[in-house]
Amino acid sequence: MIALEQLNRAAVADFVAALGAIFEHSPWVAERVAGMRPFKSSIDLHRAMAQAVLQAPAELQTALIRAHPELAGRAAQRGELTAASTGEQKGAGLNACTEPQLQRLTALNLQYRERFRIPFILAVKGHTPDSVIAALAERIAHDANHEHRVALNEICRIARFRLAELIEEPWGEAIMAMLEDLARFSETDDALSCSYLTPAHRATAERIREYMLAAGLAAHVDAVGNVVGVLPGSAPDARRVLTGSHYDTVINAGKYDGRLGILLPIVVAGSMRRAGVKLPFPLEIIAFAEEEGVRFKSTFLGSRAIAGRFDFKALDSTDAQGITLRQALAAAHLDVAAIGAAARDPAQVACFVEVHIEQGPVLLDAGLAVGVVSSIAGSRRSVVTVSGSSGHAGTVPMGLRRDAAAAAAEMVLAVESRCSADTGLVGTVGRLDVPGGAINVIPGRCEFSIDIRSGSDALRDAAHRDVCAEIQRIAQRRAVTVELTEVLEAAGVPCSERLQDAWAASVQRVTGSPARRLPSGAGHDAMMMASFTDIGMLFVRCGNGGISHHPHETMSAADADVAARVFEDFLTSFGCLAP
Ligand code: GLV
Ligand code: MN
Ligand code: MN
Repeated sequence: MIALEQLNRAAVADFVAALGAIFEHSPWVAERVAGMRPFKSSIDLHRAMAQAVLQAPAELQTALIRAHPELAGRAAQRGELTAASTGEQKGAGLNACTEPQLQRLTALNLQYRERFRIPFILAVKGHTPDSVIAALAERIAHDANHEHRVALNEICRIARFRLAELIEEPWGEAIMAMLEDLARFSETDDALSCSYLTPAHRATAERIREYMLAAGLAAHVDAVGNVVGVLPGSAPDARRVLTGSHYDTVINAGKYDGRLGILLPIVVAGSMRRAGVKLPFPLEIIAFAEEEGVRFKSTFLGSRAIAGRFDFKALDSTDAQGITLRQALAAAHLDVAAIGAAARDPAQVACFVEVHIEQGPVLLDAGLAVGVVSSIAGSRRSVVTVSGSSGHAGTVPMGLRRDAAAAAAEMVLAVESRCSADTGLVGTVGRLDVPGGAINVIPGRCEFSIDIRSGSDALRDAAHRDVCAEIQRIAQRRAVTVELTEVLEAAGVPCSERLQDAWAASVQRVTGSPARRLPSGAGHDAMMMASFTDIGMLFVRCGNGGISHHPHETMSAADADVAARVFEDFLTSFGCLAP
């Protein structure tokens, strides 16, 4: 391995020599990016190299494609592959194909080469001989230009995997670069919005899977879209340590909420694997597909499936376009019938731990990079539909109106006023909508959401009861009707004392200071995981006054680095306290 820092400082010839094999027999790619140094991360280096390939003249691109060997082809059989190609093909089991698989591959390879006059190229990491054959059969149907682009894209993926094996870099910078990279997949150009099962969300999942594969983890996507990576341990049957967080976001989100808790463990696990460190238990990293509850009326869809608590009635709930959850899963080629099988057997799980940005100002004010979560506040969420009567804005006298939006406005204020009455209680109307509203029409319908939270279940439940009663009184007085549907009732969850102590000991060892313990006001996947295993959480300092669920959410590479070292220490010490 070679340090990124060393590559940044090397003479051009040494830089090219070190990276000359990242793109098969094509040192020109490294030559073209040598002048762009210094690179802040291997992701930035990879992006520059990929750009150089994609912007190269077509003949050079074709030469690069032709420099690749056929998969399980004659060169492999004659032992003529580069060392990198040999290892990659072996990793996908292509050196041990059955006779029928080999025959099919040979026939398809020939057909492919005759049709496109290039070898078939696939980044085989994560593949099996059968999935390689399926990909080959599908790609033969492409038109030539499209296939040329697909081949280049696969070459860039191979380069990502090769760079991951070659380059050593500071964890904090690597994590931040990956967070930036994921944030490029969004439903809109001007902000980060990544709701469940949208094209941006599927692309994010695919990139996370690629990162897991590059780290050397076995990776798969389950039936609700969770991306799962496993680092095997020295005792394969030992109870697993699960970690992870969500990759969906709110609308116009920050880049760190959820994703930090996926990418940080991937970086640490990849580094441990390359260093040959074996944990005494398998480590499973789960990128939960849905936690924020943005698109459908349900929330925690990813962790519910893992906890065996998926609510199958939610399959008929609809998004704003009227698409059901069932339809959205089918469109993403996810198999509803397999959701049950995503559930973990509690007997095989040691615990779930989650690293998350704090989303508040406590650590920032205390001058601390990380802190240990003591408990997670519970929440009750409802959606309310107010129905009045619609009419002409110019002709209906004020006294004769049943304005749904005006009634809703009073109800919003009722939430605010009741939830201001107790400390330790918060209430928010985050969505307020007049469906099909127009400037010159009296609103006949208004919809809004309510989210009430507290560290105390009793306080929260009392506020919820009072708010519901007040909403009914307002409705009666204004002669409108209300339909209130509760979409989440999550009790507050304490973090396991044993895991809090383990995190605190790791914080002390890594930072040299005692750990600060703090409660979480935000909800987390760990809440759902607590239904079947012990949970623990590590918070990382949030910059910018602690703002979150907002594009100004921020954190530093230095803090990501501290958190990663604490996570590593936690994992390597965990064997001692596992039951
Ligand atoms: C999740 O981000 C929440 O709403 O707390
Ligand atoms: Mn969030
Ligand atoms: Mn979150």
